[in-house]
Amino acid sequence: MDKKKALTIINKLRKEINYHNHKYYIENNPVISDFDFDKLLKELEKIESKFPELINPDSPTQRIGEKPLDHFETVNHITPMLSLANTYNDDELRDFDNRIRKKFDKISYVVEPKIDGIGVALVYEKGFLVRGVTRGDGVKGDDITSNLKTIKSVPLKLDKIDNGLLEIKGEIFMSKSGFNKLNKNLLEKNQSPFANTRNAAAGSIRQLNPKIVANRPLDIFVYQISYSDIIIKNHEESLIILKKAGFKTNPLTKKVENIEEAIVFCKELEKIRDELDYNIDGAVLKVNSIEKQKFLGSTTKNPRWAISFKFAAQQATTNLLDINIQVGRQGTLTPVAILEPVKIGGVIVSRATLHNFDEIKRKDIRLGDIVLVERSGDVIPQIVKSIIEKRKMKNTYFTIPEKCPVCATKIIKESDEVAVRCPNKMCPARLKWRVKHFASRDAMDIEHLGFSTIDKMLEKNLISDISDIYFLTIEDILSIEGFKEKSAQNLIDSIEKSKNMNFERFIYGLGIRHVGKYAAQIISRKYSSIDELINSDEEDLKNIYGLGDKIAFEIASFFSNNENIKLIQRFKEVGVKTEKRRLKKDLPFKDKKFVFTGILSSFSRNKAADIIKNKGGVILSSITKTTNYVIVGENPGSKLEKAKKLGLKLLNEEEFILLMK
Ligand code: IVH
Repeated sequence: MDKKKALTIINKLRKEINYHNHKYYIENNPVISDFDFDKLLKELEKIESKFPELINPDSPTQRIGEKPLDHFETVNHITPMLSLANTYNDDELRDFDNRIRKKFDKISYVVEPKIDGIGVALVYEKGFLVRGVTRGDGVKGDDITSNLKTIKSVPLKLDKIDNGLLEIKGEIFMSKSGFNKLNKNLLEKNQSPFANTRNAAAGSIRQLNPKIVANRPLDIFVYQISYSDIIIKNHEESLIILKKAGFKTNPLTKKVENIEEAIVFCKELEKIRDELDYNIDGAVLKVNSIEKQKFLGSTTKNPRWAISFKFAAQQATTNLLDINIQVGRQGTLTPVAILEPVKIGGVIVSRATLHNFDEIKRKDIRLGDIVLVERSGDVIPQIVKSIIEKRKMKNTYFTIPEKCPVCATKIIKESDEVAVRCPNKMCPARLKWRVKHFASRDAMDIEHLGFSTIDKMLEKNLISDISDIYFLTIEDILSIEGFKEKSAQNLIDSIEKSKNMNFERFIYGLGIRHVGKYAAQIISRKYSSIDELINSDEEDLKNIYGLGDKIAFEIASFFSNNENIKLIQRFKEVGVKTEKRRLKKDLPFKDKKFVFTGILSSFSRNKAADIIKNKGGVILSSITKTTNYVIVGENPGSKLEKAKKLGLKLLNEEEFILLMK
């Protein structure tokens, strides 16, 4: 390949990667798989490595790769980073409005979520990112440019704005789901987990090694153009400009015409805070007109044109009554704090995770302590710390048990692991989790087989391994308290139906250590039956792109255990599909592209997607000219309009069901 050709390919790849980055990180609406995205990036890396002179600082390959720093340089902000004055109730918000309306009769505000992360200033010159600075003392902060570049939702080059100097303010945060995953990884490596998403974001962006930062699930919302050459009339307009330039702005922003409307929207935001995948600790009210903002000005600390409305705290102190021990799917013993029930953000919390025994020691948590607990949405309630000042002399240390609390087998601690485990593969606690995992929505999706039913089945010795669920008779199920003819038959029917589940879900359902949904997907692309997988060796597995040594080892050791081979044998005996369906080329909807819009009434999107995939179709999240079918449910979104414009084939739910018959 000559240099000219290389440049053409490089430009095409960069454009494509930037487009998918935007779809994934800004719009939350990916149109290709992670796997295919990685392939594009690897390809670009390969060509750039052959022609290093063609590498630009704004190439997507340049996000990571800078060497660790030994400290952060201190740099001045272009404009000061102020903080906001807080209000805690409606009247305080009305006071703020009254102060402003002494100067202006009519005033519009923009209300937006107050993101609970860390403030940052981004500087662009001629459209290129040149600097990222932490808030610091408001006048000067730390230069975190190389870390900032690893955040994929930070554009390295702006669209449509390329004039002189630009300073933008925003908030770096970590999503709740990203935080849960990060803590899980840290714990596996015997490192201390973070107590909340804010600490996780702050701790991550302050790492001196950008390679570590790149692996932290950081994200950003930007909310202010604090310096620019362009004339902007109002805040609303600046958010539109930012979005068009490629930034991620918060979609829950609303322009209101008076303070009462603002108050209503603040309350709405508070109501939905738990449903968001990021933490917000309040709402921010901003005077919309930039001219009026300038007129109102700032004190040394706060702008007079903006204020924050703080939501109820998500932390509370309570008494640590006891520490229980849970035995997980892999036999890991996890300590769980039993708390004197306490209300946090409207929810009663009586349990919190303590992660592992090392954490109890590290945080010096003792039975009887008063502890600070934090809860936010789907994040498992966490113990932030013990309030040492309130500790009574007699509060006792917690001791790690020597035996499994469920089956009394002597527990083990492998030297390279943090986890303390019950080694008994037949421990009823482990089996319960394994069955639950196997039956779960993302695995074999066995409806009506919930936790308490599984518990009762174990109590009655109806099952002693996962495959036993396929040997259950209606009489067995009727013997379980709470089941009647109809419900028992329903359960039998769902168990029967699950025998035909696709291969990828079956692999995931086996619950092999470290084999999550993604790994199961990769495996099912490579192998077409469980026998092929059993006959593969660790080396073959290691060579599969995307799997890694750890997973390869776990798969090989799973199938080297005779008990597991017998388990597979039993699945086959009862007719569970342990291979891939027909070849794709024979499938009726091979490679046909489907897009959903609106809500389906007879099944979930996941189910409908499975039906389509089983017939060879692919599901995309956005409409293009080449979409073959658009399935329209109730309350369809803007995709319907677009589909109509493009003259695509629309299917209502009934037509879809008929087509799939
Ligand atoms: S406006 C002068 N908007 O909250 C304008 N700040 O206590 C000040 N924050 O320093 C910032 N979400 O780090 C603004 N939508 C939002 C925000 C927000 C979070 C942070 C920011 C600021 C702090 C104020």
